[in-house]
Amino acid sequence: MQHPNTDIWHGLGLQATEYANTFDLRQAFASQPGRFAALSLSAPHLRADLSKNLWDTPVLSGLLSLAESRGLDSRRAALLAGEVVNPTENRPALHAWLRLNHAQAAGHEWTQGLRDMLALAEAWRADPQIDDVVHIGIGGSGLGPEMALQALQPFKTCRQRIHIVSNLDGHDLDQTLQRLQPARTRFVVASKSWSTAETLRNARSAWDWCVAAGLADPSGHFVGVTSRLERADAMGLTRVLHMPEGVGGRFSLWSAVGLPLAIAIGAEGFRQLLRGAAEMDAHFAQAPLPANLPVWLGLLDVWNSTFLNLPSRCVVPYHHGLRRLPAYLQQLEMESNGKRVDTQGRPLPWLTTAALWGEVGSNSQHAFFQWLHQGSQRVPTELLLVRRPTHDLDGHHDALLANGLAQAQALMLGAQAGADQLAGHQDFPGNRPSTVLLLEELSPASLGALLALYEHRVFVAGVVWGINSFDQWGVELGKNLARDLEARLGTGDASGLDGSTAGLLEWLQRCDYPAVPA
Ligand code: F6P
Repeated sequence: MQHPNTDIWHGLGLQATEYANTFDLRQAFASQPGRFAALSLSAPHLRADLSKNLWDTPVLSGLLSLAESRGLDSRRAALLAGEVVNPTENRPALHAWLRLNHAQAAGHEWTQGLRDMLALAEAWRADPQIDDVVHIGIGGSGLGPEMALQALQPFKTCRQRIHIVSNLDGHDLDQTLQRLQPARTRFVVASKSWSTAETLRNARSAWDWCVAAGLADPSGHFVGVTSRLERADAMGLTRVLHMPEGVGGRFSLWSAVGLPLAIAIGAEGFRQLLRGAAEMDAHFAQAPLPANLPVWLGLLDVWNSTFLNLPSRCVVPYHHGLRRLPAYLQQLEMESNGKRVDTQGRPLPWLTTAALWGEVGSNSQHAFFQWLHQGSQRVPTELLLVRRPTHDLDGHHDALLANGLAQAQALMLGAQAGADQLAGHQDFPGNRPSTVLLLEELSPASLGALLALYEHRVFVAGVVWGINSFDQWGVELGKNLARDLEARLGTGDASGLDGSTAGLLEWLQRCDYPAVPA
């Protein structure tokens, strides 16, 4: 694909040279008293300060023009109207439809699985025979429930313990099952495709564990969640909840995949999560592009990656409950926009999504913040703060908020070593970009709004880049090769393999590891 050498791209490219090389955030704040107000925005349940980024209102205007020229308005309308926005799989992306709570969606087939799920959640919550629920699922079928269960732990009102098992590594399932009694345990097996090796193997082992404990027919202890009902039936599951084909795995927390969360916080708590997300959907749908937070954030991502060539973004939630958010966002952003071709399969002439990584604050301040402050790369850093905690321990929360604010401040301001300090070693260059997202509290509704914000942000950036954000062909090759190698591990057959893989296979067969010298 040719670079569309339009005036908009060209103008932004010229501005980028200036913002990457000579723009200084400290001077910008000194010369623009209204900078904070001009570059911050509110949306349902949260506020966002984007003023400490390497941009300005003229850049944002240029990016908004770029978004218009890329058809963002009509693409947004197509997404929300349920039109096909995933052309390689000929599917719509219906995650926002699951959040509609008005009559339009309430009686429809695609929300049936969600309604069945909420009813089952209430039944299991009330069942005195159940002590433990094990949710088996990976990627979009595991990360969302895992992250949200941690985030909403203070809202957990059920008696049962809930466990998430994802990894193919048997240590995950084995260590979970060791603590449980088969007769008092229920399993949720979530797999949209019902073909994911990790999930099917874990489900089979869980089933065998029940049989070995004397449950002749464990089917009453299992419920499946899938859009391939016939495959779950074939495996012997008698109770299966439907998730719509048009809801992508990484967008599926809102569907029956959310069962473990609904068990934990109850059907009403889950509806609040949906309502919070629906509020953000309404903001995304209705706010004009220049006052639309998902649009601002998606455009900031385009600016940082494509124009400023910044190859990664760091996300640091200052809330213990959000410690799995970076992992959840990694799948959401990198599986959606980690692509180098456009919707027609043509190579794109620009850098697309950044690598996303991060860890909870304040822990990460004692790990990689040295690198963020004084390393040789500039990394846009996103700090998530929550104004009100759900604990009442004295002093913790103000100290936590102060630490988050201080990191953003230090990244921007930097500092020169004093006369009595180590020049160079104690210099901080500053002028490093950051964004602060501030939630009033971490509740089902605000979590729903936050996650929907990220979903729409990913879509916006994908539209500007020209990407299909809803497929994930890049995961297939590794899965196919793993199937071939699994068979070879049994036979030792290395024929036709590349030299390195053949060598490694032989090492694995031989088991004669070098002895440790005495
Ligand atoms: O990693 C690839 C992927 O297909 C993800 O998109 C998906 O969320 C995950 O595997 C699990 O898929 P499934 O829900 O079909 O088991």
